[in-house]
Amino acid sequence: MKKHLKHPVFKIISKVADEMNVSAFVIGGFVRDIILERPSKDIDIVVLGSGIELANNVAKEIGNIHVTFFKNFGTAMMKFDDWEIEFVGARKESYRSDSRKPIVENGTIDDDQKRRDFTINAMAISLNKGTYGNLIDPFNGVRDLSHRMICTPLDPDVTYSDDPLRMMRAIRFATQLDFVIEDISLESIIRNKERIKIVSMERITDELNKIILSPQPSIGFKYLFDTGLLKIIFPEMAALHGIDVKNGMAHKDNFYHTIQVLDNISDMTNDLWLRWAAILHDIAKPATKRFDPAVGWTFHGHEDKGSRMVKHIFRNLKLPLNEKMKYVEKLVLLHLRPIVLAQSIVTDSAVRRLMMEAGEEIDDLMKLCHADITSKNQLKVKKYIRNFELVREKLKEVEEKDNLRNWQPPITGEDIMKTFNLKPCRQIGIIKNAIREAILDGTIQNDYNEAFEFMLEQGKKIGLKKVQV
Ligand code: CTP
Repeated sequence: MKKHLKHPVFKIISKVADEMNVSAFVIGGFVRDIILERPSKDIDIVVLGSGIELANNVAKEIGNIHVTFFKNFGTAMMKFDDWEIEFVGARKESYRSDSRKPIVENGTIDDDQKRRDFTINAMAISLNKGTYGNLIDPFNGVRDLSHRMICTPLDPDVTYSDDPLRMMRAIRFATQLDFVIEDISLESIIRNKERIKIVSMERITDELNKIILSPQPSIGFKYLFDTGLLKIIFPEMAALHGIDVKNGMAHKDNFYHTIQVLDNISDMTNDLWLRWAAILHDIAKPATKRFDPAVGWTFHGHEDKGSRMVKHIFRNLKLPLNEKMKYVEKLVLLHLRPIVLAQSIVTDSAVRRLMMEAGEEIDDLMKLCHADITSKNQLKVKKYIRNFELVREKLKEVEEKDNLRNWQPPITGEDIMKTFNLKPCRQIGIIKNAIREAILDGTIQNDYNEAFEFMLEQGKKIGLKKVQV
């Protein structure tokens, strides 16, 4: 392991710890990531003694470095180059049943490793002279890494019940690393799932977002559903699960469809909010589901209702209620539009309307819509994708021609008032709307002069006269 401890800070910590006559270790995620060959710059140092004292002395040795102390927690943090180093004394913890806040006592390195979440996160490397670089792996973290397994160091009921956020973390690591959660752990999460309620929503959503940002988020959502956690933390999504059959007609399972769309979009973007739009695109299907004997299952208006559900869901999940939310609302609302176009003959006017409504979001909307094409019938998928390409081409054509992406009306309300000497009134809206429709229909170009002429004609029609200037 020595070769992975090349950074001078390890030598300094080693020297200072030896001088203080205390044992110090690198522990947790940093060690795991060395073995996974994922470079990491977050270092956790555990010392058999005071983390604060060690940090203080290390800072003195380095000189001119800022240390932040968290006296209540007995931890200290410093930034060195772009490395973030946290110091803490080895702990033995016990938890009360109604809280995540532990009662902490000093402990041995073994105590400290035991209280950690997973075997792969419980490995330590010694930093003292003589044992420098030795790996201490009492729970076979190395084996579990090579088996690609998430296992707890202790009885999983103890580990999860001590800190229920770990149930989310287990699923998060399994998703990020494409690992499997061992059976006894999964059974324990199912038994302990209700305890997730003592964890703050912010921390749950932090983990959820990490799952969503993984290469294949469906792995995590299947675990969340199968363990019952999803129903507790995000019931609207769990409600997508299941199939109804009537008169021999079934609809597709919207949960599996949604996570497939999420995986598809994840191949196209790392953007968290576009991934959220994929998660929420069909969220109102359960609420809008009807059975019509003539056509089978319908979900009329699910895009509209879904868009109106976004705020409530964002609020519950403590996601930001800002322009990111508005972006998701917009994509959910418009998600059917490109595909509807792809199913019929694409006219310039329909494409212009879509461009104007989607504005800057048109490219993301197209990605979402492409990701939404899932079917067991490959012929159907091929046909849709072909039509969809036509919509893409048309969009490009219309965009180049009409420059509609950031569309501003060429004639403003002010212009109309001045031309006809009007005070604010209904006629202005009527004329503005007529101009917009004419541009959309391609009757006139998106340009000032044509729009001005058109405005004069429209004015005339409703009995308005141009004032002479
Ligand atoms: N840890 C734990 N229980 C938790 C959170 C953290 O036992 N609920 C321990 C683990 O040993 C973990 C270490 O604290 O490795 C550091 O936690 P954190 O920084 O949250 O995670 P990392 O493992 O470093 O992974 P990542 O940076 O991907 O979050």
